[in-house]
Amino acid sequence: MTRLDKFVSDKLNITRSQAKSMIKSGAVCVNGEVQKSPDFKCGDGDSITAEGRTLDARKFVYIMMNKPKGVICATDGKGDKTVLDLLPEDMRRKGLFPAGRLDKDTTGFVLITDDGDFAHRILAPTKHIVKTYIAVLDKPVTDEVISDFEAGMTLGEEKLLPAKLTPLDGCTVQVEIAQGIYHQIKRMFKKHKIEVLELKRVKMGALELDENLGEGECRYLDSAEINRICQK
Ligand code: URA
Repeated sequence: MTRLDKFVSDKLNITRSQAKSMIKSGAVCVNGEVQKSPDFKCGDGDSITAEGRTLDARKFVYIMMNKPKGVICATDGKGDKTVLDLLPEDMRRKGLFPAGRLDKDTTGFVLITDDGDFAHRILAPTKHIVKTYIAVLDKPVTDEVISDFEAGMTLGEEKLLPAKLTPLDGCTVQVEIAQGIYHQIKRMFKKHKIEVLELKRVKMGALELDENLGEGECRYLDSAEINRICQK
């Protein structure tokens, strides 16, 4: 059981005192009845609304976003717009963060969650969750580049895990990597004097980016989809 003011402040990402005032003003209902006591104890089975809006009682949420260019994967953009700024009002809640980073100019699948353990599990280098990208390059790749990706190339001091590079059409390729090193794909191509002009993440594990999501749009994932992220 949780205090009503804590529940409301967590779900709406407002301060405890703002939540208290909201409750005292009569704007919060528990199971259809106005509840004016901030210390009222509520639990999983209760349906709670604030100013007519139903508050999500789920412990954790998992959101797929199709990130556009120009926004950053962070909780505080320090002047830049973040993926959290793009969330619609009714999906915002305390503790959300992007699980993993795409560069500012990379588009595609970003997972946003408030489940730190899950994020840790899918980001852990030992888990080797495969992330799939489509890249547009400034020139076509050669067999030698494909082999270097496959062998697990060395970048600086670091020996990378094998990556799969599949030519698609002209200068467009698919890249599958099982790590998330800073600017990894751009640096892997740069080693071969190839520039990445466009980069989009289209899949995490076995879960594909929903093609119905326009750039900047997002939706909740269900439990089957969340499990697919952890599959090959
Ligand atoms: N590799 C990159 O270079 N950039 C990304 O955003 C993701 C992978």
